[in-house]
Amino acid sequence: MRPSLLALSTFAATVSATGLALTQATTTLKPRATVCNGHAELCDRSFGSVSFVGAHNSYAIGVNNAAVNQGQSVMQQLNDGIRMLQMQAHNENGVIRLCHSLCQGLLDGGSLEDYLKIVKQWMDANPNEVLSLLIVNIDNVPATAYDPIFKSVGLDTMSFAPPSSPIPASGWPTLGSMIDSGKRLVTFLDNAADLTAVPYLIDEFTNIWETEFNVLDPAFDCNVNRTKGDPATQMYLINHFLDTLLFGQPIPFIAKLNDTNAASGPGSLGAHVDTCVADHGRPPNFMLVDFYEFGGGSVFQVAATINGVTYNPSTPIAKPLPTDAVLTTTGGTGGSVTAPTAKTSTGSAPSQFTSFSANQFYAILAALLSIFIGPLTLL
Ligand SMILES: *[C@@H]1O[C@H](CO)[C@@H](O)[C@H](O)[C@H]1NC(C)=O
Ligand SMILES: *[C@@H]1O[C@H](CO)[C@@H](O)[C@H](O)[C@H]1NC(C)=O
Repeated sequence: MRPSLLALSTFAATVSATGLALTQATTTLKPRATVCNGHAELCDRSFGSVSFVGAHNSYAIGVNNAAVNQGQSVMQQLNDGIRMLQMQAHNENGVIRLCHSLCQGLLDGGSLEDYLKIVKQWMDANPNEVLSLLIVNIDNVPATAYDPIFKSVGLDTMSFAPPSSPIPASGWPTLGSMIDSGKRLVTFLDNAADLTAVPYLIDEFTNIWETEFNVLDPAFDCNVNRTKGDPATQMYLINHFLDTLLFGQPIPFIAKLNDTNAASGPGSLGAHVDTCVADHGRPPNFMLVDFYEFGGGSVFQVAATINGVTYNPSTPIAKPLPTDAVLTTTGGTGGSVTAPTAKTSTGSAPSQFTSFSANQFYAILAALLSIFIGPLTLL
């Protein structure tokens, strides 16, 4: 696990006009990480110049449910190489829960606290990894309401708290220094961040710009869609998940996942990155995908290529679940995918809906709900 190389001293050689001056920079007995996020080459790289694969709606797990975006548990996502977990947080009667658009009746992925316990468990077991969380704070819950949850789980002390914000992409510490300091969880909030109140919950849009989401055209562009800062210097995130419309609702385009997640070809993640590099002169920092396991690791291959390292997983990544399999309720989060009346052992819809697939059943449900409570945006 953690390399025990002892750096007794670090010398910095400074070449000056008058000759060579040798300066002793630090003297320390601290162990230094020699492998960072799986690669020695990444230790000296700024967090802002490394590309990470992220799981869009990482808590929304299942199959044959129009409201899910992932097929593997959060622990499996992390073990396979996901290094940004995106989630949508809702205030449900004073409890922060991870739900997709609606907690009641659509998709409730469990409490944030239960979810973060899984993250903590993985962080403890993987001390040489830097991980990011991206919280879509859809109910504008104040940062101070998140703080006790991070504290109770023990992730506050593992969290990177920047001295100030925003931080340009070039201004982030190296992965090695983050790992050495133990502050290797980077959490972004899309709104309500307040560093003076909670120093480790970092505002997203002043630090990161995003491409558009809910894309229906596989020719993904790399235009700046949302930002509150200067896209020329910020880190950036691409929403690389393709949707299709079912009864007017955007849902993941499952049938195209292999192409969407591929390293090359029309509509692929690789092609999207090429567009981004052509447009912006640098690759994306974060790449959010649906069902990352489709493509057999191709999404991680894309990140490795960007990062200039070799993708060589120690164990093969999870295989996609058959899309006709029973709705799974795992996630390892203690949460559940709730879907009133429609969970069956065969994956088929309840008898009164036998002419519909389960997927269509949920879409109809969502469409009906939207009539009563207004349009749903499946972010
Ligand atoms: C962002 O994307 C959405 C969805 O495609 C679009 O409606 C909106 O106009 C875009 N905004 C900008 C600033 O490009
Ligand atoms: C994706 O590719 C895998 C492996 O080649 C294959 O088994 C699966 O059927 C494909 N899925 C889709 C939806 O095309």
